Amino acid sequence: MANNYVLVSGASGFIGSHTVVELLEAGFNVVGVDNFYNSDKDVIDGIRKIMELSNSKTKGEFYFEEIDCANYDSFKTVFTKYKGIVGSIHFAAYKAVSESLEKPLEYYRNNLFSLINLVDLTTAFCEKQNVVFSSSCTVYGEPALKDLPIKESHPLQKSLTPYGKTKQMCEDIIKDCANAYKNFNSCALRYFNPIGAHPTSLIGELPKGVPQNLVPYITQTAAGIRECLTIYGKDYNTPDGTCIRDYIWVVDLAKAHVAALKKMLDNTSFNWNAYNIGTGTGVSVLELVNCFIKTTGVDLKYKFGERRSGDVEQVWADATKAKRELGWEANTPLEDIIKSAWEWQKRL
Ligand code: WQD
Repeated sequence: MANNYVLVSGASGFIGSHTVVELLEAGFNVVGVDNFYNSDKDVIDGIRKIMELSNSKTKGEFYFEEIDCANYDSFKTVFTKYKGIVGSIHFAAYKAVSESLEKPLEYYRNNLFSLINLVDLTTAFCEKQNVVFSSSCTVYGEPALKDLPIKESHPLQKSLTPYGKTKQMCEDIIKDCANAYKNFNSCALRYFNPIGAHPTSLIGELPKGVPQNLVPYITQTAAGIRECLTIYGKDYNTPDGTCIRDYIWVVDLAKAHVAALKKMLDNTSFNWNAYNIGTGTGVSVLELVNCFIKTTGVDLKYKFGERRSGDVEQVWADATKAKRELGWEANTPLEDIIKSAWEWQKRL
């Protein structure tokens, strides 16, 4: 058994699995935990296959436990088995925005209990107490045009959905605990729109059922699984009338977690902080669709439909704080990200 572990909850999820790979490549030993509620077991094999192919000189060791983080007693077994956890990255949460409106209690129980258990067990069992929390730009609500690109100092807007509220509550929990417990450090990484897949096409986005998100719907339409893409709304107050987002490659996003963890390990009085993890560039739905067609040569079928309720018109990140303080930035061209998503879809 190694020591100096990094615990990753939600390790078989889309962002969790890519982050496990980057941590291992950076030489960290990783204990992944997941209950496979919203992910597939073969993602764990995908991680192991990528590491077998890796020629990194200092790759870490990977352990995995099938655990429900919302169950204190089962989660506790990880902390008693793997002594020397120096930091945790917390992805485990339900994340379907519209589903959270139908099942609020499940969202509050799962998303809050799993985080509370992680903080509780970290302060009880770990000498080094560092938690990186997977947050979201949804905490900003619908920013005004004058506030874009959005900064971390932008006031947080009360979310309209239980999903978004659990993100905000979890940010408050880790901030209050960092202020209350002297050895406990935490940081919130506020993601924009993670897309794409690993360059090996061994792991990627695996939406269950009909994809809610844009890029998997595009690739499934291009693969003939879906009939036609509907672009939700062509009458927004944007240059081409479609919504604008900040699309970031999932591998660049994963690397941001390694940078944040390193910053906390090097800086015991880190306390608390929050960082926008985006590219800093806004891209419209139509621009992304045209980029897909140009990059892949696939004649994607799409039409314009009604707006989707709950959609923010436009939001993209000011990511200069993460660059300045974490030494991290996302600069992968959109064409390359789109290629990785398409290669992954073809392999599926
Ligand atoms: C992007 C744009 C849609 C599908 C993200 C995260 C989500 C959550 C909230 C994460 C929008 C349009 C989509 C389609 C379309 N936060 N679209 N046709 O809504 O920005 O959600 O932030 O923690 O997990 O993904 O991403 O990909 O759903 O939509 O026109 O079939 O694409 O209207 O403008 P969104 P998305």
